[in-house]
Amino acid sequence: MAEFSLPKNSVIKKDGVKHTAPAGAKRTKTFKIYRWNPDTGENPRFDSYTIDLDQTGPMVLDALIKIKSEIDPTLTFRRSCREGICGSCSMNIDGSNTLACTQAIDDVKGDVQITPLPHMDVVKDLVPDFTHFYAQYASIKPWLQTVTPSPSAKERIQSPEDRSKLDGLYECILCACCSTSCPSYWWNNDKFLGPAILLQAYRWLADSRDEMTGERLDALEDPFRLYRCHTIMNCSNVCPKGLNPAEAIGEIKKMMIERQL
Ligand code: SF4
Ligand code: SF4
Ligand code: FES
Repeated sequence: MAEFSLPKNSVIKKDGVKHTAPAGAKRTKTFKIYRWNPDTGENPRFDSYTIDLDQTGPMVLDALIKIKSEIDPTLTFRRSCREGICGSCSMNIDGSNTLACTQAIDDVKGDVQITPLPHMDVVKDLVPDFTHFYAQYASIKPWLQTVTPSPSAKERIQSPEDRSKLDGLYECILCACCSTSCPSYWWNNDKFLGPAILLQAYRWLADSRDEMTGERLDALEDPFRLYRCHTIMNCSNVCPKGLNPAEAIGEIKKMMIERQL
């Protein structure tokens, strides 16, 4: 493989690499991006890339793709759909967790600082390690569980009213913006499931076709798994899909109380 060399307008500085704007650029923006490479063992640093906005798409993901394609192919980040659907491009932009593909560059004042989702182990650059998050997701058994045979030996039907109870839940794309903005999850994520996984847990509790409600609630009845939520609300403020994980958590707590009455 050909060795990568920095473009002419790039300077290596003590605190990171600085890539200046291309000649003739009239509308520029600087992106300060967290870099960490496990292979070198060096400390993390911020590299800065100044690009021509007239030659870039409108979203932060467009800028990242331009930087990777034209300036620095070593920059590492996840993305897939560029439509706010796959959840892979979640990162911290200008101090807030969000999706790079739906965050407009023009909505960020000044330089755009980008770091990985907070309080996650980093695989490389902007790529967090989701292994634990996905294991927590698997732990809530995110599939329809039934004991009775389906009435018509075909699909299990649901009334429009029951189906509407899943609105605001099924849209979750598991981007983890909410969980990684939750202080309780930062400090107790070994035991607390966090807002994303609890919203998903409620999605199955709220499903009229599911027949394991008692077992699902038993699995959440624990001082940490559910009750480490202290209603700080960061999760609902940050969700890029406009969902309300704090409300879903409140509904689970209500179900816990109601079953004791
Ligand atoms: S609730 Fe929102 S922020 Fe949390 S994982 Fe789902 S889509 Fe992402
Ligand atoms: S409401 Fe609960 S889950 Fe959401 S940020 Fe606050 S403590 Fe975390
Ligand atoms: S690339 Fe799929 S949500 Fe951003």
